Amino acid sequence: AHASCSALLLFGATGDLSRRMLLPSLYALHEDELIDPNLRIVGTARSEHDDAEFRAFAKAALDEFLPADRKDEAKLATFLDRLEYQALDASQVDSFGALAEKLGDTSCGLSIFLSTAPALFEPTIEGLRRAGLAHADVRIGLEKPLGNDLASSARINDAVAAGFDERQIFRIDHYLGKETVQNLMALRFANMMFEPLWNSAGIDHVQITVSETVGLEGRKGFYDDTGALRDMVQNHMLQLLALTAMEPPRDYDATSIRDEKVKVLRALRPVKPEEMVRGQYRAGAVKGESVKGYTEDLGQDSDTETFVAIKTHVDNWRWQGVPFYLRHGKRLAERRSEIVVEFKQVPHNIFSDRGGKLRANRLVIRLQPEEYVRLQVMAKEPGLDRGGIVLREVNLDLSLATAFAKARKRIAYERLLLDLIEGEQTLFVRRDEVEAQWKWTDAIREVWAKGDMEVKPYAAGSWGPNAGIALTERDGRSWND
Ligand code: BG6
Repeated sequence: AHASCSALLLFGATGDLSRRMLLPSLYALHEDELIDPNLRIVGTARSEHDDAEFRAFAKAALDEFLPADRKDEAKLATFLDRLEYQALDASQVDSFGALAEKLGDTSCGLSIFLSTAPALFEPTIEGLRRAGLAHADVRIGLEKPLGNDLASSARINDAVAAGFDERQIFRIDHYLGKETVQNLMALRFANMMFEPLWNSAGIDHVQITVSETVGLEGRKGFYDDTGALRDMVQNHMLQLLALTAMEPPRDYDATSIRDEKVKVLRALRPVKPEEMVRGQYRAGAVKGESVKGYTEDLGQDSDTETFVAIKTHVDNWRWQGVPFYLRHGKRLAERRSEIVVEFKQVPHNIFSDRGGKLRANRLVIRLQPEEYVRLQVMAKEPGLDRGGIVLREVNLDLSLATAFAKARKRIAYERLLLDLIEGEQTLFVRRDEVEAQWKWTDAIREVWAKGDMEVKPYAAGSWGPNAGIALTERDGRSWND
């Protein structure tokens, strides 16, 4: 009954990601008229529902998760109207016929978003192929986790490659959809002042922190099998590192940017046992509220890490001798994602005889919860300096919320879904990148498996185990807390 020949097909349409992120993002795109009104949006999942029930599900999700500034009742109604649903057991490769029938003509383009258990990736691709839904005008977006080590990731990549060319494959790392992450490229490559110093001559070290206050969030099985390293470092944090360390790409396009990122990922130095720390939270208080420890949350004993701190290097000319410190954990003191670039000290302090002490400049790129770029510079405290010159660190602040006050704050998935529909691959992860990420991560886990890498307890609400702090202090450096 549909005239349109292009569609977006959501696998896992009744899942958590769909409720929290995908449906609200699609609604926002619809409200802003950024997607073709004729594009059909078809959800699929295992449970039996008709279109009306799926619309009710979507309505409830939007009521719960739509940002407060998005409430256009008329557009909400037209959005819900365009949703359709088809039940499907994706583990049964011969059961995709009804879906193909529901979709009908997809000759003008079919964008598929897979957010299902990774075990379903392979049968889903096979099912799509058998039903004729893997043709040249199909694009497929894959949500993480893409495997849990290099071998399983390669297997998934092979399975997907059996149905689709790399140009059709959109591996999602939602951090790339974040505005501030893209802004990192603007900062580096749209300004003259950073790049000449952006190397081992100008930079002392780089630190990347992604700290969270949340704990397990009901994902017990998945998280306990995965752990902090594979959940966050292998993907999001290595992407942040790659964007920070990459050479200037020739152009802002998918090939140029991903070529440069993969070079960095391949140049990552394997991590030695003394350069990493694993931790697990115990009971404590996060922002004044007392919370349980990890094994109590889990309901069983476990040595899965909920915290990891790592010191690594990028082994190329630009970064020789510059450590990259990475730190991530659940149930930490605050929610914060940031990249901190600490520059070298000035070669000679002319103020030292007058008591002037210097601190190295730091560039802080805060990705969330606030979005800002802050350059910490030394300035003279005003006054007549009778007791000596007092130098203090002050901030040159660029708050994106203030500078771009009128811009709407968007969810990362708005960007990524739109790019998937439009076939723009720049903010998606190429196969060689994912595999380089796994290779480095696997080597770390091999070190852990050899023993001697016990998980160190830390109190919920702290900044992780002391050993994590010692990782920088030992080198005469400090985390940006
Ligand atoms: C996901 C991880 O990829 O990223 C979660 O699986 C984590 O464990 C989440 O909480 C963090 O995303 P964000 O956008 O809130 O920083």
